[in-house]
Amino acid sequence: MSMLFAKKPLSTLLAEASDSEKGLKRTLGAWALVALGIGAIIGAGLFVRTAAAAGAHAGSAVTISFIIAAIGCALAGLCYAEFASMIPIAGSAYTYSYATMGEFVAWIIGWDLVLEYALGAATVAIGWSQYLNKLLFITFGQTIPYEWSHSPFQVSEAGVSGIVNLPAMFILLLISLLLVRGTQQSAVVNTIIVIVKVCIVILFIILGWQFINPANHTPYMIPETAGVVNLSDGSTVDYSKFWNNGFAGVMTGAGIVFFAFIGFDAVSTAAQETKNPAKTMPFGILISLAVCTILYILFSHVLTGVAPYQDFLKSGSEASVAYAIDTYMPGYGWLSTLITVAILAGFSSVILVMLLGQTRVFYSMSKDGLVPKIFSDLHPKFRTPYKSQLLFLVFVSLFAGFIPDHVVGNMTSIGTLFAFVLVCIGVIVMRKSNPEAVRTFKTPLVPFVPILGALVCLAMIVSLGRENWERLGVWLLIGMLIYFGYSVKNSKVRKSLK
Ligand code: ALA
Repeated sequence: MSMLFAKKPLSTLLAEASDSEKGLKRTLGAWALVALGIGAIIGAGLFVRTAAAAGAHAGSAVTISFIIAAIGCALAGLCYAEFASMIPIAGSAYTYSYATMGEFVAWIIGWDLVLEYALGAATVAIGWSQYLNKLLFITFGQTIPYEWSHSPFQVSEAGVSGIVNLPAMFILLLISLLLVRGTQQSAVVNTIIVIVKVCIVILFIILGWQFINPANHTPYMIPETAGVVNLSDGSTVDYSKFWNNGFAGVMTGAGIVFFAFIGFDAVSTAAQETKNPAKTMPFGILISLAVCTILYILFSHVLTGVAPYQDFLKSGSEASVAYAIDTYMPGYGWLSTLITVAILAGFSSVILVMLLGQTRVFYSMSKDGLVPKIFSDLHPKFRTPYKSQLLFLVFVSLFAGFIPDHVVGNMTSIGTLFAFVLVCIGVIVMRKSNPEAVRTFKTPLVPFVPILGALVCLAMIVSLGRENWERLGVWLLIGMLIYFGYSVKNSKVRKSLK
């Protein structure tokens, strides 16, 4: 039993971190890291999931959902930053928990991070597919047929069923190939995209502000009496239900738009490729989080002011930002085109960081013997975990091709929230178990901040509802089978303790 809680010694972790000669290259500086953070953060959460949260749950009060999600992230981010400053090696929350709460919890978190990064990448790829169709329509008046750009679980308003989402699979292929070539080139491309992405968010806020219709913001939260909306796939949204109106709706909205913040922690997975990680890590995490929070609140205020929230359940449910501009901002067709192009580029950078994060977490787990060695095999020339990258390409593509975005999106949210809760608890445990360890950044007001962080994240988990809890449960069960079937026999920490 005690082996379940076998801890990886901090000294071993730090030795691995300094052993960068043999492993991954250290190429990323402080601002490259902030760019990596923002590159991962602003994506489908803002340009796709915001409208979904507003349409079915929060209405204009999705701004409050963003504030709640940001509070959860900031508190968890402060915990992340402490860990990242003391354990500056690849692996993110997985690595931290291996040193604090032992192997079993580390496994759960590492397994959980697959939901965050792999399914996160799938969700964004699906959003990319929506905006690609929008661009094709604007440019050529044609789209990729519905059946080839949607999952089999989706039905169009005209009654056409989806078969597979090919564009989503295509973008994943492209980015995986780029990543196989290495993160240095990728970081340069990423920085350019980040600048473009931030600029178009600001542009939409400024230009859209004058088209805000105050009637769309009244009442601010969805009233219980808002009625029932029938959707094309046969489902309904009943606003009188508990999680579809008022503050409960705002909470569910927070769970959904939480997706928009995912990625700031991906910064920490690049620790082993970062110069002077003890300083640059906390900086990268907290600055990128702060910038995005401000932009999100303003952006969602404008989006729900320009278009009524009910629109986002029907014709505005896909490529929602371009829809709002085309429908309610006459004369701004150019903005819709510009935003669509920028979003396509922007989503690519999010997918890049997600797929990068995914393979780096599995790189660490593989080094520890918890997953097979194939996940840490480096390319002889590019020094990237190329086999892992390609295996994950297959895995992520299956989700992107065959599952609808709200399912993968919410699984990403709940998986990440669960990992955050464990990271918050980890800070308290680590303060007790390793009080003397050097921390270049300290989480303030421990244990208050970690406890509050865990509670806010738990509240969002609760608000995501039974279906998502069940999916998380099934995922963890599969993880358990692999852990007891493979990892316990191959764990290096266990072997060293025998
Ligand atoms: N935060 C990232 C996005 O919104 C995952 O796309």
